[in-house]
Amino acid sequence: MPGEVQRGLEDVVALESKICFIDGREGRLIYRGYDIRDLAANASFEEVAYLLWYGRLPNATQLAELRGRLEGLRAVPEELLQEIATLPAGADPMDVLRTAVSALAVYEPERSGPGPNAIDGAQHLTAVLPTILGVYHRRRAHLPDLEPRRGLSQAAYLLYALLDREPNELETRAVDVALMLHADHDLNASTFAARVTASTLSDLYSAVTSAVGALKGPLHGGANERVMELLEQIGTVDRVEEVVHGKLARRERIMGFGHRVYKVEDPRATILRTWSRKVGEAKGNLRYYELLQRIAEVVHREKGLYPNLDFYSGSVYALLGVPTDLFTPVFATSRVVGWTAHVLEEYEDLRLIRPVSRYVGPTGLSVVPVSERP
Ligand code: ACO
Repeated sequence: MPGEVQRGLEDVVALESKICFIDGREGRLIYRGYDIRDLAANASFEEVAYLLWYGRLPNATQLAELRGRLEGLRAVPEELLQEIATLPAGADPMDVLRTAVSALAVYEPERSGPGPNAIDGAQHLTAVLPTILGVYHRRRAHLPDLEPRRGLSQAAYLLYALLDREPNELETRAVDVALMLHADHDLNASTFAARVTASTLSDLYSAVTSAVGALKGPLHGGANERVMELLEQIGTVDRVEEVVHGKLARRERIMGFGHRVYKVEDPRATILRTWSRKVGEAKGNLRYYELLQRIAEVVHREKGLYPNLDFYSGSVYALLGVPTDLFTPVFATSRVVGWTAHVLEEYEDLRLIRPVSRYVGPTGLSVVPVSERP
């Protein structure tokens, strides 16, 4: 007989993993033994990707090889580019991303399944997601077609693909840090979705398609876009109290606050807050930062809740000129590393993930002929 139901699988230990550890009471996030604060200060997104996939930090040669490999895998098959071009210009970018990831499997079957080529699939997906977003966004924004550009890190290439200009050092580093912070987070909803799919021995592209679908929801990756909408709705610092009180009185959730695992401030939010200020200062625009700080004060005072990662990330992207509806897809371009690292781990020690439910519906019913049913 099934045991007690844990709604939302809260606190359920579903599997063993060597990838990521979250200490929700102390507010610590560890990737493969390294504190996220150390990584964010002293590493790059590519180093973190290597760490998550291979379990150790790369030496200089390994890092250069990985950078070269990612650069070499950025092109999207011509047929898929045409498919993306047929999608409506007003489509939700997360729908575009999910559709494109799913379609990629058709063009890359040899990199798809469990086995030694799975790591190639992981790197391929990581390399192409910025290109897919860039191609889609440039078309709808009437920007020139995306031309290949050598020598750009993943962060710089992502900004180049979306903004049609090469970012400066501070902009690149801000996004590099944001990508590192988003790369993995244990069994969050989208990673769990990826692992469930992989646990059926399905391929990597299917697993990442499941994950993109899960990330889209406003309780998960979609929250960063909602935070930006909240900032626009509030407008000025003097309106924060009134709007936040109104929302809490209506029992609405304030997006960007609370977390299933962290009981103190999300360490990623602490780091991104600094970057939100730094980028605001560099752009001569501290409006978002000041609004965010005031909202954080009021929500903490009223509800005891702390901001999560999604609270500050949007302000950084917005100041760089990234449109709001691309915030969650940008999140995906980083989390794809975590999803695929978890899928590779799942393939190594595979056990079909198949929980049970407690049945609480009716029993003992008999089928009445359709003509006699009310
Ligand atoms: N605003 C207002 N109240 C909140 C919020 C919030 N953002 N988050 C939690 N609460 C309240 C709940 O109303 C509840 O109060 P109650 O007991 O009086 O009803 C209490 O805190 C506990 O909330 P739960 O929903 O049980 O907490 P859970 O662990 O399920 O929620 C979640 C985690 C979904 C992230 C929640 O905090 C939330 O909805 N936050 C807003 C969305 C968001 O920012 N998501 C991004 C998460 S980080 C990420 O995915 C990258």
